[in-house]
Amino acid sequence: MATLIDGKAISTQIKDELKEKVAQLKAEGTKVTLAVIQVGNDPASSVYVGNKKKACEYIGINSLAYELPEETTEEELLKLIGELNERADVNGILVQLPLPSHIDEDKVIRKIDPSKDVDGFHPQSVGALCIGQKGYVSCTPAGIIQLLKRSGIEIAGKECVVIGRSNIVGKPMALLLLRENGTVTVAHSRTKDLKEVTKRADILIVAVGKPKMITKDYVKEGAVVIDVGIHRGADNKLCGDVDFQDVEGVCSAITPVPGGVGPMTIAMLMSNCVESVL
Ligand code: GUN
Repeated sequence: MATLIDGKAISTQIKDELKEKVAQLKAEGTKVTLAVIQVGNDPASSVYVGNKKKACEYIGINSLAYELPEETTEEELLKLIGELNERADVNGILVQLPLPSHIDEDKVIRKIDPSKDVDGFHPQSVGALCIGQKGYVSCTPAGIIQLLKRSGIEIAGKECVVIGRSNIVGKPMALLLLRENGTVTVAHSRTKDLKEVTKRADILIVAVGKPKMITKDYVKEGAVVIDVGIHRGADNKLCGDVDFQDVEGVCSAITPVPGGVGPMTIAMLMSNCVESVL
């Protein structure tokens, strides 16, 4: 029977550590402030933004909410980011993605001052990660490293396979595993014989975006399986990219959906916010 990697419990542990740190900073006269910008009212984005605000409240981080209408122009958004970049009382800036199609996401991300880029999406942050320099790291992959470390799973020397090559998850994930001395393979939609590749993995990170695609045929006996996906099935239940019931019989440890990777993303965002004042 596989061990369940409890992202909810581990994220609470991290948030409690941060809460203590923020209280200590407050006592020394330092406040932490995160500006959260949402353009339009995409329902999923509203849920994520709401959860981020709640986490700020729990930890004692001050959050400034900018809920802008769908018709906001790119120029207006860039102007707001410019103003927040200049404000000494704002430590972190987060622009919830996706943005409406008339706004160039790339331009918006580049506008954020890298010293306030708590999402770790700015090219300077990504470049720093690539060459092992200091900078903010994208929250989902950073959270996965914490899940592995805090579950006592060794990364050094392990065969790590990441399925997915997005800028937000797959690519930074591969770089972080490499930084931890894993032997890393990145597989994607054009990979040939995907099962043969994934069956080499001691640690398999799945970010394919397809519900329950990864069955036991893709998994080596005893592997650790991390599921980044989240989908609502026809039965209205949440599921991941991994067919949990099928895979749990062959792996040694696995993250559930919900309650695995998801809560860690927010915990790491909070951690980046605290780091922004240190
Ligand atoms: N949309 C989906 N995930 C994220 C995230 O981690 N950060 C931001 N800013 N937008 C997102």
